Amino acid sequence: MLPEKKISTAVIKRLPRYYRYLGDLLENDVVRISSKELSERMKVTASQIRQDLNNFGGFGQQGYGYNVEYLYKEIGKILGLENKYNIIIVGAGNLGQALANYTDFEKRGFIVKGLFDVNPRLIGVVVRGIEIKDVDEIDAFVKENDIHMAALTLPKQKAPKVANDLVKAGVKGIWNFAPIDLNLPKGVVVENVHLLDSLMTLSYTISQEEKDQ
Ligand code: NAI
Repeated sequence: MLPEKKISTAVIKRLPRYYRYLGDLLENDVVRISSKELSERMKVTASQIRQDLNNFGGFGQQGYGYNVEYLYKEIGKILGLENKYNIIIVGAGNLGQALANYTDFEKRGFIVKGLFDVNPRLIGVVVRGIEIKDVDEIDAFVKENDIHMAALTLPKQKAPKVANDLVKAGVKGIWNFAPIDLNLPKGVVVENVHLLDSLMTLSYTISQEEKDQ
């Protein structure tokens, strides 16, 4: 079921969490769950859950709750997870290699196809079966391997040019870890991941709690 109206970004951002919880429930053979039970587990209000899921026509039934498997699959479809996505990682340093070593991306359909760097000492090194290639090979590689997304794990000064080259080669989604805003043409999606933002939110919350004590 595809959403017909525009769904708010806030709701979309919550869906992976629903998906994760429902996946855990499925693994534990839970067949159905009420919004109340789900809300207790997830620590969000039951009305928030109902509102969020109503955006997609609601998958619950009065008095029955939600069918876990059905809801899991439908949210997976909304998130585009029935497709497979080929990814490359550009910048094969600490973070790039850590991402390449994480096997769970593949379980969700994100397949790491290539790793690229400029450093001659890294080119040719194999990380979890993937040989690090020279960035000069990116254009041809993207075209030949049907690459949908690229993770940018390289210095921020280098990120804008590399991102533009990737877009020209045909990449549609940039998973940007470099701490810089990228201005890319319409039709290209950028998802920024900044662990430091998350840490600062944590430090804010801790300092607020200390003030309240
Ligand atoms: P690193 O120095 O270990 O790795 C960077 C790699 O990029 C190096 O191997 C370097 O040779 C390569 N590189 C440089 N120019 C390149 C180019 N034009 N094309 C391809 N590769 C190129 O650094 P680290 O720790 O892995 O960090 C990488 C980036 O990720 C940095 O921009 C850092 O600020 C950012 N970062 C972001 C985090 C986040 O939460 N968003 C967390 C940690 C790092």
